[in-house]
Amino acid sequence: MEEYRDRLPMSEATPVVTLREGGTPLIFSERLSERTGAEVWLKYEGTNPTGSFKDRGMSLAISKAVEEGARAVICASTGNTSASAAAYAAKAALTCGVIVPRGKTASGKLAQALVHGATVLQVDGSFDAALRICRSLHERYPVELVNSVNPYRIEGQKTGAFEVVDFLGRAPDVHVMPVGNAGNITAYWQGYQEEVAAGRIRRGPVMRGYQAAGAAPIVRGEVVAEPSTIATAIRIGHPASWQPALAAARDSGGSIRSVTDRQILQAYRRLAREGVFVEMASAASIAGLLDLSDAGELAKGARVVCVLTGHGLKEPDWAISGASQPPIIRDDTAVAAQMLGIEP
Ligand code: F0G
Repeated sequence: MEEYRDRLPMSEATPVVTLREGGTPLIFSERLSERTGAEVWLKYEGTNPTGSFKDRGMSLAISKAVEEGARAVICASTGNTSASAAAYAAKAALTCGVIVPRGKTASGKLAQALVHGATVLQVDGSFDAALRICRSLHERYPVELVNSVNPYRIEGQKTGAFEVVDFLGRAPDVHVMPVGNAGNITAYWQGYQEEVAAGRIRRGPVMRGYQAAGAAPIVRGEVVAEPSTIATAIRIGHPASWQPALAAARDSGGSIRSVTDRQILQAYRRLAREGVFVEMASAASIAGLLDLSDAGELAKGARVVCVLTGHGLKEPDWAISGASQPPIIRDDTAVAAQMLGIEP
C-alpha cells in the first residue's frame, strides 16, 4: 500500500494498516507456455499475508475504516474475505464479524477467521444470502462493510494490475482470472485503465473472466438461486459487481465464460505438478487459459497473465483426497530406498 500510496485514495492522515501485502511474484510457466504456444505468466496471489489477493483491498478498506472512526467491521464471505478481514481487523484492534455459507467454507479459511478472533456466523444459504444480511446490518447499525461493494476494496486490489505492468514493463496481451463476486476483475480493469491514463501503457489487455459452470450467473445472464461448484470461493449466484465486470469484458474486447468443475480439477492438478499450489477457484484461470487455447483463440506468442487468487493450503482436503495414504516404514535405509525407487 505504501508503494502505490500516491495512486490510492489516502491522505497524510490515513493510518496505514498493513501486513506487507502485495509484491507477489509473477512466475513464468514453461509448461503452460509450451502447451499453449503463448507466453504464460502466473500472478501468484497466494503469497499475500493471509494467502489470497483479498489482502490488497483489505489493507485499504481497514485503513479507511480506522481513519473514519469505525469500531467494528463486517463481511460476507466464501472464506478468503473473512480470513483477510479478520487478520487486518485484528492488526487494527477492530471488532470483526463475518457471515459465511454453512458447510461450504474451506477449513483453512475458517481456521484463519477464528484464530484472528472474528465472530463467525454460518448462514443456511449461499454467499448471496450472507451478503444480503451484511448490507442490511451496514444500513441499520454503526458497522463498516468490507466486502468489495466497499469502493476501497476495489481501489486496493487494482494494485495487482500496477505490479503486472511494473514487472513486464508493458501490459499483457491477455489477462485471465476467476470471477465470483466480480470485484477483482473490476479492480484489475480499473488498474489497467489508470495505467493507460497515466501514459505508462498504450492499452489494457483483453480481459478473460471465468466463472464455474454451476455458478455462472453472468454467463447465463440470470441470477443462479442455488450455485454449485467444487470451487467454493466462487460459489456465487448474484455477483455484486456484475455490471462493471461485463463492462471490463466488453471494453477490453474480452469475455466472461464458464469452465466445468472437471476442467478446474484438471488445471489444479496440472499447476501443482509444476510446483504451484493454488486453491480450486484459482485453477479456474488455468482451466480458462487451456479452453481459450484449445478453441484456437490464443494467438501464438501472446503474452498472457493468469491470476492465481489463493493458496492451496487453504483447502488441503482436495490435495489429500486425490492421493493415496503415504506408507509407514520402520527405521531402515534399505527399505526406504526400495520404497522410494532409489537404485544402488
Ligand atoms: N478466487 C478466490 C480464491 C476467491 O476467494 C474469490 C472470491 C475469487 C477468486 C473471485 O473474486 O469475488 O472478486 O470475483 N472470494 C470472495 C470471498 C467472494 O468471500 O472470499 P471476485
